[in-house]
Amino acid sequence: MKRILISKIKEKVSETVKIAGWVDVRRDHGKLIFIDLRDASGKVQIVAVPKNKEAREIADTVRPEWVIEVEGEVKKRPDNMVNPDLSLGDLEILVKNIVVLNESKTPPFEIGTDGYEVGEEIRLKYRYLDLRRERLRKNLQTRHNVVKFIRDYLSGCGFMEVETPILTKSTPEGARDFVVPSRLQKGKFYALPQSPQQYKQLLMAAGVEKYFQIAKAMRDEDTRGDRQPEFTQLDVEMSFAEQEDILNLAENLFTEMVHEIFPKKKITKIPWPRIDYDEAIKKYGTDSPDLRKDKNNPNELAFAWIINFPLFEEKKENGHFAPSHHMFTSPVKEDLKKLDTNPHDVRSYQYDISLNGLEISGGSIRIHNSDIQSKIFDLIGFGKEQKEYFNHMLTAFKYGIPPHGGIAAGVDRLVAILQNEPNIREVIAFPKTGDGRDLMMDAPSEINKEQLSELGIEIHPAGRNKKNKK
Ligand code: AMO
Repeated sequence: MKRILISKIKEKVSETVKIAGWVDVRRDHGKLIFIDLRDASGKVQIVAVPKNKEAREIADTVRPEWVIEVEGEVKKRPDNMVNPDLSLGDLEILVKNIVVLNESKTPPFEIGTDGYEVGEEIRLKYRYLDLRRERLRKNLQTRHNVVKFIRDYLSGCGFMEVETPILTKSTPEGARDFVVPSRLQKGKFYALPQSPQQYKQLLMAAGVEKYFQIAKAMRDEDTRGDRQPEFTQLDVEMSFAEQEDILNLAENLFTEMVHEIFPKKKITKIPWPRIDYDEAIKKYGTDSPDLRKDKNNPNELAFAWIINFPLFEEKKENGHFAPSHHMFTSPVKEDLKKLDTNPHDVRSYQYDISLNGLEISGGSIRIHNSDIQSKIFDLIGFGKEQKEYFNHMLTAFKYGIPPHGGIAAGVDRLVAILQNEPNIREVIAFPKTGDGRDLMMDAPSEINKEQLSELGIEIHPAGRNKKNKK
C-alpha cells in the first residue's frame, strides 16, 4: 500500500490507508493508546486497541518525535468526541499496523506550542526542530505563497526573472561588503552583492526591458529585529518607465496579492496615500509613518508611498553630499541645473513604500547619462580611484542605455508584517543571530591552515585572539 498525506484521509472514510509522520503526542488511557500523528499536511488521532496486540505493544513504546508508519481504517468520530481544534478532528485512524521508521531523542523544547516562550538561542541551534512547529510551518508556507504570487503576477505582466551573480565586485555603495577571497587570483577578493542594483541596470543596457528577481542581498551591518546580514529582495527594473509606472506596478501587485492570499486583511486606503518626504518628517517625525487607524487590529495593512525625497541627505562633515537612496538615483528633471549651484535643494525620483510603520520597499528612476552620473560621483566626493570602481557603469551608459527605473521590496519584512510576526527571523527558515551567527551550523567558523595557505591568507594573531576571547 502506498502512503498518503494525512490531509487526504478525508476522502477515504471507512477505507484502510497508510500514513506516516511524527508522533506529536501520545496518551495512554490504559486499554487504549492514542497518538496524534503529524505530517507536513496535518495531524490526526490514531487509536491502538488491545484486540490488535502487536500494534498496541508498539504504540506503547513510541515517544514524541519518533517517525512511524501506520496502517489503519479511517473512522468518523462520534459527534461528542470531535476535536474542534484540529481540521481533521472529526476523524481518527483505527490502527492495524505500526512500523517505527526512526526513534528520536527527547527534543530540547516543546514543539506543540507557538514557541515564543522558548529561548531564541536554543530555537536557532535546533532550528530543524523549531521549524516543525505549526506556526513556523505556516510562515514558510505563506512565504512560499507570497513569492509564487509575485512570480506569477510579474510573469503575467511580461517580466522575466534573471539571476545575477553572488560573487561580484566590492564597490563603495553604502553598507559594508562581505568579501570572499579568490584562490585563482591570489590577494584579490570578490564581494557579495548588497543588492543586484548595478546588474539590473546593466540588464536594461542589455535590452531586457522588464526584469525581476527574488534575490539574496548581503550587507555586513549590525543586525536588529528587522535586519539580517543576508535577506531577500523582490528586485524589479523596467526600461522606458517613469515614476508613475513603477508606483502603479508595485501598488497593484501588493494590493492584489493581499486580496488573493490574505482575504481577511483590510488595506486602510486604496489607492494608497502618497506623502511628500518633507511632510512625513514634519507631521510624523519619520519617513515611514504608521498610518493604521487601529494599531491593535492585526488585520489592518496601512500601505503608503513616500515620494519627493531630496537627492542628498544632510551635508557630511567633509563637505561632500551623501545620496539619500543610492548614487544611481536620478535628480528631478527641473532641478538638474541646481546640481551646480545648490545641490542640497535638488529633489529626486526616489520612492519608498511604508507598511504599518516599516519601510518595506525603496526604489527610484535612475540616471542614464554618464555626465550626470559622473557629476553625482563628484558631489558625493568620489576621487578618480573611487570612480574607477564604477567604470563599467559609466562605460555602459555610453552605449545607448534606455531611461529606466525600478524598486526592491524586502520580502522578509513584508511576510513578517503579513504574518503578524514581531521580527523577520520568524519568517526566515535559517536566520542569523543579532551578532551574525548561524547557531545550528556554527558559522562563521575558522578554516584550516591548508585552506588559508591556498588563498594566500594569514590571520594576524591579534585578530584571532580577539575573536576567541569573545
Ligand atoms: P534598499 O537598500 O532600500 O534598496 O533595500 C530594499 C528593501 O530591502 C529591505 N532591506 C532589508 N531587509 C532585511 N534586512 C536588511 N538588512 C535589509 N536592508 C534592506 C527593506 C528595503 O526597503 N537597490 C535598491 C533598490 C532599488 O533602488 O531598486 C535597494 O537595495 O525593506
